[in-house]
Amino acid sequence: MNAPWKGGMPGNRDPFASYICDEASLDILRPVVIELGWMPEKCNKGGLRNAIQSLSVSASPNILMVDLSESGDPLGDINALAEVCEPGTVVIAVGQVNDVRLYRDLVASGIHDYLLKPLSASVLRDSLNAAQTVFSAPKASDPDVAKRHIASAVIGTRGGVGASTLATSLAWQFATRKAKPTALLDLDIHFGTGALALDLEPGRGLADAIDNPSRIDGLFIERAMIRAHDNLAILSAEAPINSPLMTDGAAFLQLQEEFRQAFEMTVVDLPRHMLINFPHLFNEVNVAVIATELTLASARDTIRLLSWLKTNAAHATPIVVANKFQASALEISRADFEASIERKIDFVIPFDQAAAAKAAKLGQAFVEANAQSKATVQIRALAERILGAAVEEDAEGASAASALGGKKSLLGGLDLKALLAKKDKGPKQPA
Ligand SMILES: Nc1ncnc2c1ncn2[C@@H]1O[C@H](COP(=O)(O)OP(=O)(O)OP(=O)(O)O)[C@@H](O)[C@H]1O
Ligand SMILES: [Mg+2]
Repeated sequence: MNAPWKGGMPGNRDPFASYICDEASLDILRPVVIELGWMPEKCNKGGLRNAIQSLSVSASPNILMVDLSESGDPLGDINALAEVCEPGTVVIAVGQVNDVRLYRDLVASGIHDYLLKPLSASVLRDSLNAAQTVFSAPKASDPDVAKRHIASAVIGTRGGVGASTLATSLAWQFATRKAKPTALLDLDIHFGTGALALDLEPGRGLADAIDNPSRIDGLFIERAMIRAHDNLAILSAEAPINSPLMTDGAAFLQLQEEFRQAFEMTVVDLPRHMLINFPHLFNEVNVAVIATELTLASARDTIRLLSWLKTNAAHATPIVVANKFQASALEISRADFEASIERKIDFVIPFDQAAAAKAAKLGQAFVEANAQSKATVQIRALAERILGAAVEEDAEGASAASALGGKKSLLGGLDLKALLAKKDKGPKQPA
């Protein structure tokens, strides 16, 4: 189907084919097809079912147009089409139902566009041109592109510090502003919010992957991932609360491997407890974003996470991000926090309640809903740093941990008593 992150296989495939139910639409389509240099004979009379039948025994075209008008279950039939359609095909659906929900569901199933009847030549032309652009765009599976893959993981030092907000916003930023095919892997299996934040159903993709790691391949991730944008696919779950996570973590490794082939960027929303059972999650991660607040508990756990990374994932560049920053409401000052973690905070993202509310209300990534917010400016800068950090890492090798300095125990750097004493002493230090 039409996922732009997949490799097209031009070989002996037709550039175009369509299955359209009515003559009137075919009469409008044929001249446009001729105009684009394709064969009008490929404009078949028939609907989605004919397309499925035909593609089950022949090669898929680069661009496929299918008519849903006679389909009683368009979404089910589109999924059946996905079963027989080869990777890379860009699918345009045509139908009579003017329903935004159907449109969104179709797009989420991997359909490139949905055109409403009666068709017009100009709408057809625009849609087919766009489909051609998608098809011929450099595919993430090209060897050159695959090499540039950057995986970042966002870990919160404590619950609710905004790790998922950052993960979703970073993924959105990479996918849209940076036009990079991006995967968002939400490893908060039971309580993840990656899909929710973007007003999408999480689907069963991640649950299926965990249950059947051996089935994970390019085709699987194409079908299992939900699409938030042409360039952004999400793999998540909303596992039932009574269903414990049963996995040895093989699925996570396999998924990361497939993402590396299929996308340019992977963002992992990584609940911190996952590190305990699945430390190998970090094997392929280039950049570790530690999201924190300026609290005592967060200071301790920033130190512990930095230390863990240094020992277990020295190849990953750590970036410390203080989120929800309010100078007037700090548990410990920025200076004290930095002294205790023995390094600078890389980014400070201000607390912006109105912006968080707006993103939630619109069902959009924080950065999308709040283009002008100061918090967004910082998140965008963080995205740039991630892109840059991975380049540096390539150039310098695994030197990331050196920024932490010395051989001294990081945990030893936290003088909890001193921090508490300062807290008790009243006026807080300016941030
Ligand atoms: N900079 C910010 N200003 C105001 N609110 C924020 C900011 N960043 C995140 N939030 C809000 O904080 C809440 C928690 O955010 P989020 O779910 O991203 O945290 P988390 O660290 O992933 O939590 P969990 O531990 O549950 O996974 C959300 O309601 C989010 O909108
Ligand atoms: Mg979260």
